[in-house]
Amino acid sequence: MEQTNYLKILRRRWKIVIASGIVALTAILLLTPTTGGLSESYTATATLLQPPDGRESSGGLPTKVTALLVTTGPVPAAVADRVDYTGDVASLSQLPQVTADPSTGVVTISVTAETASRAAAIADAFAEETIAEATARSGGDDPGVQLLQRAIAQPAHTGPITWLTTRTGLAVVGLVVGLVLGVALALLVERLDTSVRDRTDVHRAYRVPVLAEIPRMRRSLRRAHALVLQTQPASMVAEAYRSLRSSILLIPSHVLQPIGTDDARAKRHAEHSRPQVILVASARSGEGKTTTVANLAAAMAEGGRRVLVLDCDFRRPQAHLFLDVPDGPGLSDLLHAGEGTQDLLALSRPTAVEGVRLVTAGTMVDLPPALPTRIAGILAEARGLADVVIVDSPPMLIGNDAMDLMPYVDTILVSCRSGRLTHDQADRASDLLARMRVPVAGVALVGARPSAPLSQMLPLRGAASSSTYRQKGVRVGEPAGEQ
Ligand SMILES: Nc1ncnc2c1ncn2[C@@H]1O[C@H](COP(=O)(O)OP(=O)(O)O)[C@@H](O)[C@H]1O
Ligand SMILES: [Mg+2]
Repeated sequence: MEQTNYLKILRRRWKIVIASGIVALTAILLLTPTTGGLSESYTATATLLQPPDGRESSGGLPTKVTALLVTTGPVPAAVADRVDYTGDVASLSQLPQVTADPSTGVVTISVTAETASRAAAIADAFAEETIAEATARSGGDDPGVQLLQRAIAQPAHTGPITWLTTRTGLAVVGLVVGLVLGVALALLVERLDTSVRDRTDVHRAYRVPVLAEIPRMRRSLRRAHALVLQTQPASMVAEAYRSLRSSILLIPSHVLQPIGTDDARAKRHAEHSRPQVILVASARSGEGKTTTVANLAAAMAEGGRRVLVLDCDFRRPQAHLFLDVPDGPGLSDLLHAGEGTQDLLALSRPTAVEGVRLVTAGTMVDLPPALPTRIAGILAEARGLADVVIVDSPPMLIGNDAMDLMPYVDTILVSCRSGRLTHDQADRASDLLARMRVPVAGVALVGARPSAPLSQMLPLRGAASSSTYRQKGVRVGEPAGEQ
């Protein structure tokens, strides 16, 4: 994998890396004591001095014997009393590290404890009790053992290892290890992820060109069902929708000739140099269809075109939220009413966008209206009411409504939200489109991180040849170039 690919993956999966670092850091902080810390133990050394061996005064003991007195006999029990040692005397007797140098008569007693004062107190107690025991053993004569140096405590570890064994040091090490594991996990997740994410994935799954990559929108805008073309007309998202408009409008009519031998449709396409009725479809719900319908309509209207939006998503109608139209009678009422009782013009309502009118999905009933009965007439009527008709639809993989609409539209724009669809689902949707033998203009890849600068995203020439995309019989609209 190239270096840039690694960076891309890390940009996409940064949350895993950070979460892993935080988990490791928290674990270290919970598992290490809050006070004291690992290296915060102290060693105190008291030093005894007696005449060197061979020069003992009368009653004096050899240095090694004095050293032995520290940890054996009555000394440990006496020390336990003095320092209020609650544990076993035998384990206290293991505590001091004793050295004896017969040539100088120096005996050192080192004790390690959690605090400096405790270590010093125990070491001094051992030293003093040893002197007392040596005196007792010499029958009251001065054994010549004296306390040369009272205990002075020092941190138990020195050198670079000290820093590593502090709580802070361990936390830093834990954080670094956590982040490294996070990177490994991110790469693993990426490898196991089978979702359609970028241009390459879309090409592979749908076998049609990506007409535009719509950058990821901020959460606040998404929640508000904001019409970006109006609220943030200079944003990258708005520019991407304008780019999508251009790409669709640049599709030449000959590319949109239907594959079948339907003469009436061939004539109709010949009449229109550009697609007039555009169906926005997607494999699953939540793929950005309605967002695309509303923003594309606003982008079309910017060029002075009269746009009519038909909300044919009877399962989850939302176009009115983006276009700021109160819900009310709409297409379902028209479909349920007898022929000739209501007309489309009366149901189309002005929206917050000048030049865009909307026919809402209408009154919701338990069973969505059957489209095939009257949809041909309704779409034919719609053609007479606007320059461009944009149709919102339910997901292709749920129900048949989108497929019922397809025979009557000029082109299909597939909305594909990055990371939402598995390759398998995209394949199934692609197969459905191929079976319907309808011209597919291409895909709007929604919420993607742009894989190329915007300037490179505009023209599609050379992006893929139509023959490549016809492998599954899907008819592709490629732009002819600038017009
Ligand atoms: N460019 C984008 N970036 C990020 N999220 C988006 C973008 N466009 C749409 N979405 C989000 O995707 C979700 C589905 O959008 P919607 O248009 O309702 O899809 P559909 O009509 O296909 O169900 C919504 O939460 C919407 O905010
Ligand atoms: Mg929708």
